[in-house]
Amino acid sequence: MCEQPRATDLLAWYDRNARVMPWRVSPQDRARGIRPDPYRVWLSEVMLQQTTVVTVRAYFERFIIRWPDVAALAAAEDGEVMGAWAGLGYYARARNLLKCARVVADDHGGRFPDTRAELMALPGIGPYTASAIAAIAFGRSETVVDGNVERVMARLHAIETPLPAAKPELTSAAAALTPDLRPGDYAQAVMDLGATICTPKSPACGICPWRAPCKARRQGIAAQLPRKAPKVQKPTRLGIAYVVRRTDGAWLLERRPDKGLLGGMLGWPGSEWSAGPRPCPPLEADWRILPEEARHTFTHFHLRLKIAIARSDAEPQTGAFIAAEAFRPAELPTVMRKVFDLAAPELAKSDKIKG
Ligand code: ADE
Repeated sequence: MCEQPRATDLLAWYDRNARVMPWRVSPQDRARGIRPDPYRVWLSEVMLQQTTVVTVRAYFERFIIRWPDVAALAAAEDGEVMGAWAGLGYYARARNLLKCARVVADDHGGRFPDTRAELMALPGIGPYTASAIAAIAFGRSETVVDGNVERVMARLHAIETPLPAAKPELTSAAAALTPDLRPGDYAQAVMDLGATICTPKSPACGICPWRAPCKARRQGIAAQLPRKAPKVQKPTRLGIAYVVRRTDGAWLLERRPDKGLLGGMLGWPGSEWSAGPRPCPPLEADWRILPEEARHTFTHFHLRLKIAIARSDAEPQTGAFIAAEAFRPAELPTVMRKVFDLAAPELAKSDKIKG
């Protein structure tokens, strides 16, 4: 006899095992009528796109202290928000976050709209995030499909089609299970199941609330699902980053154009990133190339950055000097921070030599 999976079994498990997160309302509080704050749900969901819960937690707390509601965030300066986002990656998300906050503040009276369709019309809110906010913040019965949900559905139904071709099938499997009651708790319950029990490598099937109806467990193939189409190798691009310090300690930095990779973020002046980048120093100086390169992997390529350092008081052709007291390395995107971490000790050494 094949038992059918039921949302209620998962919800009963969630009532006992929900992970505590600063943007969540516990299932017990939810049952007492406490509703999640849509601003917190939206902020967490945007941060959680492509970033792990562990990383997001600290950023979320800092954002909420600094900008406790959508009006506060809408009034923030672009550079401040980009700086606070540094290290979370995918910087278009931060630009859209601000745009979205301003649209909600200016056009919606500071209240998030409560339907999936209206949410999707806002900057930076795609189908996944719209469903998640509609379900979690507004109790709408929308189907939320992230990587965890795909894995759980592939196993539950023993769907062997490889990803990404399996997506439509996995989405309809998820939709068929989404309940009308407690859809927000249900969405987060599937995520928690995927993160804590139905994990990618060694699922703990013995303690799973859906162990009875799980087809992959019965067939002994749970750990092999979902199958994935072979990955294409990422190409490697090269570049040169120039780190200049003035005698008064100021650093030469440049804000990147809004469009494109790391758009709107602060960084070191440098070459384009390509197979054969041309040197383009921002000023004339006695450059020293460091023996170690900074390495970073983006979604579509690996990057190796040569680092050129110099002390100079010359006028730069690009970028602007930022006083040492005003410079916060934590506000650099990760790749630029890696450059800083390699360059700063070397520049400090030259300080000591010169006295
Ligand atoms: N990933 C994306 N949204 C999430 C949420 N609300 N809880 C846990 N993990 C998530």
